Amino acid sequence: MANYLVTGAAGFIGSALARRLLDEGHQVASIDNLSTGFLDNLPAGTSFVEGDCADPAMYQKIPQHKYDAILHIAGQSSGEVSFDDPIYDIRTNAESTLLLLKFALTNGCRRFIFASTMSVYGVKPDIPIDEDQDCAPESFYGVAKLASEHYMRIYQQYGIDSTALRLFNVYGPGQNLKNLRQGMVSIFVAQMFEDAAIQVKGSADRYRDFIYIDDVVDAFVNSIDCRTAGSQVINVATGVRTSVGELLQVIVSKHDQAVEIGYSGSTSGDIHGIRAEVVKMREILGINNTLDLEQGITKMLDWVRAVHDRQA
Ligand SMILES: NC(=O)c1ccc[n+]([C@@H]2O[C@H](COP(=O)([O-])OP(=O)(O)OC[C@H]3O[C@@H](n4cnc5c(N)ncnc54)[C@H](O)[C@@H]3O)[C@@H](O)[C@H]2O)c1
Repeated sequence: MANYLVTGAAGFIGSALARRLLDEGHQVASIDNLSTGFLDNLPAGTSFVEGDCADPAMYQKIPQHKYDAILHIAGQSSGEVSFDDPIYDIRTNAESTLLLLKFALTNGCRRFIFASTMSVYGVKPDIPIDEDQDCAPESFYGVAKLASEHYMRIYQQYGIDSTALRLFNVYGPGQNLKNLRQGMVSIFVAQMFEDAAIQVKGSADRYRDFIYIDDVVDAFVNSIDCRTAGSQVINVATGVRTSVGELLQVIVSKHDQAVEIGYSGSTSGDIHGIRAEVVKMREILGINNTLDLEQGITKMLDWVRAVHDRQA
């Protein structure tokens, strides 16, 4: 049994990860400021601290046993929101990481894993993008996440081995259906169930790489033990290019009502397209069989229907 600290455990990815670690018999302490997460998401059995990772005083409240790894998932996760308030974004996505790294050092924890993002890359050609590509983020969000990766690189000199997982578009059960500013799949699905209509910001020929939540949780769990000295950066994606139009087709084909689709405007900092090279994910994390989009969307829609039935 190991001791883990998971931040953002009341959110979509953090709650799924904390649940998996608890199911595997580990002890999990968790932190969340509930800015976009919900207490209901917290898995039973975690010792929870409500607090902000960017608040130095919060670190006094964390259970002070020695952690085998810190999994830093908390953060403001919307490129669009980062344009509303870049200072808030850098506090939550960069300052938080620095404070957690400092906490890791004083705690004696030598393993740090971070939820980074494809947004660090910026505008790229339509080819699989590997981790050695230059990074020139198009959003404040991407800048703060990239800063965090560099803080982790610098902290390796103090003996902290780190892995930044550059998550591409994550989707699946548990995604926040109320937050219409983050998560392409959840936004489309929420609109479809609410209004039988989807309003798309941007064109249908934009493309992304969509990865199912369980595969992302596998990536975090496997990275705990795939320890190499120093700091690593690994894409977490499927390697499959899917256009927004193709995604919409899959989603609406599985709905039991006709769905109207409209296009208008765009989102600040949105890039036309990106897809990942996933050789490192396969070789280092041992993740080879990611769920395909058709199956993943089916599971997600089944979950949304179950949530609606419970609320009816
Ligand atoms: N969902 C994706 O497609 C995706 C893609 C790339 C990267 N990420 C990253 O993964 C992480 C989790 O994303 P998610 O989709 O689960 O989002 P989410 O909003 O569901 O979860 C984030 C959680 O962090 C909490 N939080 C935010 N700022 C905090 C702070 N300063 N201190 C403490 N708690 C804080 C929120 O309340 C929330 O519970 C984020 O860091 C995000 O940037 C997500």
